[in-house]
Amino acid sequence: MPQERDLEAVKRAKSRFPLLEPIARRWSPRAFRDDPVEPEKLGSLLEAARWAPSSFNEQPWRFLVAVRRDDPEAFEKLSSCLLEGNRSWAGRAPVLLLTVAKTYFGDDPTRKNRHAWHDVGLATAQMVLQAAALGLSTHLMAGFDRDRARELLAIPDGYEPVAVMAVGYRGDPETLPPDLRERETAPRARKPLEEIAFGGRFGAPLSLRPSVEVEEEG
Ligand SMILES: Cc1cc2nc3c(=O)[nH]c(=O)nc-3n(C[C@H](O)[C@H](O)[C@H](O)COP(=O)(O)O)c2cc1C
Repeated sequence: MPQERDLEAVKRAKSRFPLLEPIARRWSPRAFRDDPVEPEKLGSLLEAARWAPSSFNEQPWRFLVAVRRDDPEAFEKLSSCLLEGNRSWAGRAPVLLLTVAKTYFGDDPTRKNRHAWHDVGLATAQMVLQAAALGLSTHLMAGFDRDRARELLAIPDGYEPVAVMAVGYRGDPETLPPDLRERETAPRARKPLEEIAFGGRFGAPLSLRPSVEVEEEG
C-alpha cells in the first residue's frame, strides 16, 4: 500500500485553478477506522447542512443519523438497506446517515418542490466539505433499497430517501478485499473543464483568462 502521505497526494484534486483546501483534499474512501466520530463534529456536519441555501428557503433536507456505537439497532436497520456491494464496507463505518428530501413546499403537498433534490444535494455538499475540513471522510451511496428504507425508518409520504452517507476516519486500504483495495488507491478522474463548462450557449467554448492560473500538478 502507498504510504499515508503518498495516498493523499495520489487522491488530491488536480486542478488548473486554485481550490479551497477541503475541496482539494476530499475523496470517497471505503476503508474506515473503528474510531467513533466525536458528537460535536457530527453536530458541525449537520450545522453545515442546515446553513445551505435552498429554493424559497424551504430547507427540504432531513437527515437520519445512525451512530453504530450509540444505537447498534438503528445502525443495523440503515445498514440493512444498503445493497450488498456497499454494505460489505459501509457497514464498518462508525456512522451512517440517510438524506431525505421533502418534495413539496410548506404544508401543501400539491405544491411540488422541483428543486428539493438539488437542495438536499447542496446541503450534503456542505456537510461533506465540513467533514473534510474536520479531518473526517465521507462516502455517499445511491446503492440502497429505497422502499425498505421508507418502511424500516418510517419515512412519511411526501418525503423521499435520497442517499446514504458513511462518515468516519479513513482507514487502511489493506483492510479491504483486493478489488476494493485497488480502487481505494487509484487516482481520481474528472472530465476536463471544457467538457462541462460552456460560453454563451451549450457547447460554445468558454474562455478563462489565466491571470490566476496555476500549474496542473501531477
Ligand atoms: C449520489 C451519489 C451516489 C453514489 N453511490 C455510490 C454507491 O452506491 N457506491 C459507491 O461505492 N460509491 C458511490 N458514490 C461515490 C462515487 O462513486 C464517487 O463520489 C465518485 O466516483 C468520485 O470519487 P470521489 O468522491 O473520491 O471524488 C456515490 C456518490 C454520489 C454523490
